[in-house]
Amino acid sequence: MKSTLAQLTARFDQALIAAFGPDLAGTDPMLVPTSNPKFGDYQANLAMSLAKPLQENPRAIATQIVAKLDLSDLCEPPEIAGPGFINLRFKTQYLEDQLRAMQADPRLGVAPVAHPQTVIVDFSSPNIAKEMHVGHLRSTIIGDSLARVQEFMGHQVLRLNHVGDWGTQFGMLITHLKDACPEALTPGAAVDIGDLVTFYKQAKQRFDTDDDFKTRSREAVVDLQSGEATATTAWKALCEQSRQAFQTLYDRLDITIQERGESFYNPLLADVVQDLDSLGLLVENQGARVVFADGFTNKDGDPLPLIIQKTDGGYNYATTDLAAIRYRTQQDGAERVLYVVDAGQGNHFAQVFQVAAKAGWIPSNVELTHVPFGVVQGEDGKKFKTRSGETVRLKDLLDEAVSRARIDLETRLQTEQRAETEDFIQDAAEAVGIGSVKYADLSQNRTSNYIFSFDKMLALQGNTAPYMLYAYVRVQGISRKGDIDFAHLPAEARIYLADDTEFALARHLLQLDEVIGEVAQDLYPNRLCQYLFELSQKFNQFYDRCAVLQAAEPQRTSRLLLCDLTAKTLKLGLSLLGIRVLERM
Ligand code: ARG
Repeated sequence: MKSTLAQLTARFDQALIAAFGPDLAGTDPMLVPTSNPKFGDYQANLAMSLAKPLQENPRAIATQIVAKLDLSDLCEPPEIAGPGFINLRFKTQYLEDQLRAMQADPRLGVAPVAHPQTVIVDFSSPNIAKEMHVGHLRSTIIGDSLARVQEFMGHQVLRLNHVGDWGTQFGMLITHLKDACPEALTPGAAVDIGDLVTFYKQAKQRFDTDDDFKTRSREAVVDLQSGEATATTAWKALCEQSRQAFQTLYDRLDITIQERGESFYNPLLADVVQDLDSLGLLVENQGARVVFADGFTNKDGDPLPLIIQKTDGGYNYATTDLAAIRYRTQQDGAERVLYVVDAGQGNHFAQVFQVAAKAGWIPSNVELTHVPFGVVQGEDGKKFKTRSGETVRLKDLLDEAVSRARIDLETRLQTEQRAETEDFIQDAAEAVGIGSVKYADLSQNRTSNYIFSFDKMLALQGNTAPYMLYAYVRVQGISRKGDIDFAHLPAEARIYLADDTEFALARHLLQLDEVIGEVAQDLYPNRLCQYLFELSQKFNQFYDRCAVLQAAEPQRTSRLLLCDLTAKTLKLGLSLLGIRVLERM
């Protein structure tokens, strides 16, 4: 099936060449869906932007384009409005045929990209032995969705977990482990160290109060860096313990990610420093070796150094990221790297990218992008915390979402006098609870701070996961009620559009490929959420107004096709957000 936008774009190209010559080939027709159906379906805005280069008034340009524009198989005759907008209205037959083709296409009319790239999504990336907090949850949810979209577009995607598994904090953790859990120091012992967050707190407490412990911790850092056996075993045991805890969460969230932590780059760091030095970029600064990136100053207005090697010879977070850039572009062949990391690290990435560029480590075909997101706040607008002021544990947060979803579900089952099995209830509650947490995050513009509210995310009305899941279930209900097998509707059956609500639904459905393409490019999953929300609304309006099972043929089958296409679109869209649908709920 040919994408509507691609067809329109090609026709505009032909018209432009015919009207103004080959110089204008490839000009963007600037097509956007109209805001008001009164003006048709699409509006082309190119005449305005051509006014200057062509030295003509935009309305005259629009007239010349329209004179050469052949859209008779797709649209009614184009209309010129205002200063030079070209308004297009699809022919009903075209809409009907496109919808039918979309319904029969497993990709729902979304073509994979012509030139697949190798894309790395660097996301989640919690720190070992520290709590994986809500910020990491945002990165995990947004990163997974962006990775899913890139994969769907046909790119080769490497999902990387840049875990913080290295650094001086391991000195105190190793020392505490030696004292508190010596049995973990036998290589391959696989001892359960218990909750690492508590463990971290205990180690920190000792570090802050016990001088002898502090000295031993400093020695442990040196041991670890030099690869001494016991320190290494202790470090591995700590990493393994964290890994298991993280993995439990990833499994529950249905997220695939490959661990490639900071320690992976250790063997490459000395080279990075040496190369920066020989390129003349490295500067001594108060005993440390630093690089100055242009345009970065501290609060006093002095140039802000990016520390590459600390006074004690240790390397920094930035050094590892520089090594990672080299590895990812050279070894992985990455052409696009998305860093899904909180907005607070904006300066870090801007500096690192600039230094990498100065060092010549970013090939011209490679694009590095920091994909920032805002902080999670409680309903009081303050930093998200438990009532007692502790950081919220992710497991508790997901448990609470699921248990609230379960209460809602059980209440509804009672009012509807439905008896369901425990398995059904548990599965549905898990899907709704987890789906709601994900959707609530993804439906916000990621750059804003985000207010976490169980009540809002689980509400049945509004731009929420439950609303979307219900729309899907509603369609499946039609198939059950009418004993319809959507997969086997007659192949020759057509879609006929008549009611206004059918047209509105139809036009919206046909924008799917544009929306997904936009998310793949601009990296804002909330755009897809908004699309799905409007789709559910338009479907509900259609379903409230139009009889489906009670309609006479051929309208009945036509409407069943529309229902099925809506459900498939919801299912695909939600799957790109990492949310699974339920057939009943
Ligand atoms: N571990 C870091 C943190 O918790 C995030 C790492 C992000 N990725 C990167 N390549 N720097 O803040």
